Amino acid sequence: PRHFAIVPAAGSGSRMAAARPKQYLSLLGRPLIHHALSVLCAAPAIDAVFVVLSVDDTEWATHDWSALGPKLRPLFCGGATRADSVLGGLRAIAGEAAAGDWVLVHDAARPCLAPWHVDKLVRELAHDEVGGLLAVPVADTLKRADEHRHVCETVPRDSLWQAQTPQMFRYAMLRRALEGAREVTDEASAIEAAGLRPRLVQGDATNLKVTYPLDLHLAEWILENREG
Ligand code: CTP
Ligand code: MG
Repeated sequence: PRHFAIVPAAGSGSRMAAARPKQYLSLLGRPLIHHALSVLCAAPAIDAVFVVLSVDDTEWATHDWSALGPKLRPLFCGGATRADSVLGGLRAIAGEAAAGDWVLVHDAARPCLAPWHVDKLVRELAHDEVGGLLAVPVADTLKRADEHRHVCETVPRDSLWQAQTPQMFRYAMLRRALEGAREVTDEASAIEAAGLRPRLVQGDATNLKVTYPLDLHLAEWILENREG
């Protein structure tokens, strides 16, 4: 099977509260999204990288993406939610993706994706029937609270993981799952709602999602201090 990456990048970054959507904020002199796109385009396993942009995106065209090579393909078909954007991307590539091809969905807002993250995910899921996602074990003690913020219980964390991206599933299975479950915040939830069980592949905390301004500083530190 082939491997396609879909990178949802049609969000507005409301929690970042910057002047521009966070995917275009400058990170070490490049647009934030450029970092992950560069890793995905350079990954030998990946055949094409589709970036899902907002239909009224005006900034993509103002940057130079030529260093990323011919695998990179912008699609102006973003939707109202992340799931809608991913589904829009899946529909747009229907002509080139076969049912059994793998799709790796990666947040534009995770700029610290490393080559080993992609390699490990692809390698560990290559013979899996369903697919799966990068994730890290939860480190903090978790509390469930009532509406008055009184703790009701401490949730045992030993079986809890934080979901990351990329999330890798077969084209037809993922599309069917997302068509049937639009209220999800990641692909794995849609696959779970379809009654299937995605596999967790252990990544690490460096693959953080940039959500708040602090995350931008953390991402910069991670990229600057990375070996190689
Ligand atoms: N995304 C998307 N289409 C949307 C909403 C989000 O493609 N309608 C993308 C974002 O661009 C981001 C990824 O999904 O790369 C993860 O979403 P999130 O971190 O929530 O980004 P935003 O929605 O832009 O941020 P916020 O929720 O703070 O507004
Ligand atoms: Mg959002």
